[in-house]
Amino acid sequence: MSTPGNSLEGMLTDGRVIVRPLRDGDARDMAAAVGDGEYAVWEPAPGPYTVARALDVVHEYEQGLRKMEKAAFAIVEAATGEFVGSAVLLAGPPPMATGDDPLPVWLAVPDAVEIAYWVRQEARGRGFASRAVRLLALWALDQLGLRCVWLEADPNNIASLRVAEKAGFVREVVLPDHCRDAASGEPHDCVIFARLLGEQWPAADVEQGGSI
Ligand SMILES: CC(C)(COP(=O)(O)OP(=O)(O)OC[C@H]1O[C@@H](n2cnc3c(N)ncnc32)[C@H](O)[C@@H]1OP(=O)(O)O)[C@@H](O)C(=O)NCCC(=O)NCCS
Repeated sequence: MSTPGNSLEGMLTDGRVIVRPLRDGDARDMAAAVGDGEYAVWEPAPGPYTVARALDVVHEYEQGLRKMEKAAFAIVEAATGEFVGSAVLLAGPPPMATGDDPLPVWLAVPDAVEIAYWVRQEARGRGFASRAVRLLALWALDQLGLRCVWLEADPNNIASLRVAEKAGFVREVVLPDHCRDAASGEPHDCVIFARLLGEQWPAADVEQGGSI
């Protein structure tokens, strides 16, 4: 596996998918990929996105990266170079880790990062998200030296739950009414998954991981 080290430059790949930081040249693809009323991973506002807005998003994340707060990545099909989706890393433990919710103690660690992901409609079901999430999680734990990569998923979002499982994350806890539906604002339950530094990758994702 090639890695960008801890500089967030370069790329990650398993031979089928490439993950690299978003750049200005992605703005056109980003805008084209997000359908009308669809929620991409970069912000709470739904599409459609203009190229100008997508460019702003790239720059916002570049600034976030300089502050070590957040980073955004393109998910690219290795064989074609096609932009198929995006993933973001957001520094910090789950917000509820300091509250009264029954979260595992380790979720309070400061050196944790959340991962979120999105794949354009036409490219779904081909393993892009699970491969990309796995690559980024491995990199964050092995190269950045973080202790925990976590994600939250709606229990009804079967595809997202499968991505978490296929990427080797462990289902930790269900938080009642923790998340809000992006469109309606209604609260809903939320499943927290995590990968911890030093954990063995399950056999299933070793099979999926190919050349890693
Ligand atoms: C979730 C999402 C990123 C998955 O991307 P993807 O590239 O299609 O994911 P993968 O191909 O790696 O895996 C998807 C898995 O979900 C399964 N799946 C998808 N829809 C499903 C459904 N309705 N019922 C059951 N399984 C489903 C697929 O079969 C696949 O599992 P498998 O390989 O065991 O068959 C994509 O659907 C998406 O962008 N959704 C909108 C944004 C979102 O919900 N993001 C997650 C929240 S952070």
